[in-house]
Amino acid sequence: MSAQTNTNAAASTAQTAIPNVILRLGDIAPNFTAETTQGPIDFHAWLGDSWGVLFSHPADYTPVCTTELGTTAKYKNQFDERNVKVIALSVDPLEKHHAWINDINETQHTTVNFPLIADPDRQIAFLYGMIHPNASENATVRSVFVIGPDKKIKLTINYPASTGRNFLEILRAIDSLQLTANYGVATPANWQHGDDVVIVPAVADADVPARFPKGATYLKPYLRITPQPNL
Ligand code: BEZ
Repeated sequence: MSAQTNTNAAASTAQTAIPNVILRLGDIAPNFTAETTQGPIDFHAWLGDSWGVLFSHPADYTPVCTTELGTTAKYKNQFDERNVKVIALSVDPLEKHHAWINDINETQHTTVNFPLIADPDRQIAFLYGMIHPNASENATVRSVFVIGPDKKIKLTINYPASTGRNFLEILRAIDSLQLTANYGVATPANWQHGDDVVIVPAVADADVPARFPKGATYLKPYLRITPQPNL
């Protein structure tokens, strides 16, 4: 792997240790090249115009990770429907990834249908701040980065090694992000697909009728509810 660009932190080269970067919402997702189980990639070129989910695992041949990758494979069509490319990372070599995928397919009754990045030197893990030294000096935590078509980080999640992620929640959050990007609405607490949404404060009252033809309910001047616009 080589780290190519990181506009959010001090520049680094592939040959020197990369600082364990802290990435924030709105930052450009750093580009890199890497070997994956589906061939070499340049991350930004691989993303193209799609949304992306980059998520890390502590290690190959670990139980929770095995279930997570199997679950992601089963949800691949749901990511595709949302124009989201999914890619996993763990700090193990490519050959180990390939062998482990056989176990995932067998035990999770699926076929892993997305790439796994091999990051044995942990350079991408450091580039994305996936190593939390006070949790583990060597292994990545369970990080999730949702990246928009503009290559900016839209959402981050970090779970400890012992807690498997809820991939339905990741899909739900992507639905919210895409509603905001496309319609100027936000989603309230515990929102689920089909529920009403809220009109963002940046939309002036005068523009509400034209932008939200399904109607709006004003609970307060700042709390304006409208049906989910893309249904
Ligand atoms: C796992 O992936 O199953 C796991 C990894 C490290 C600690 C606990 C669980």
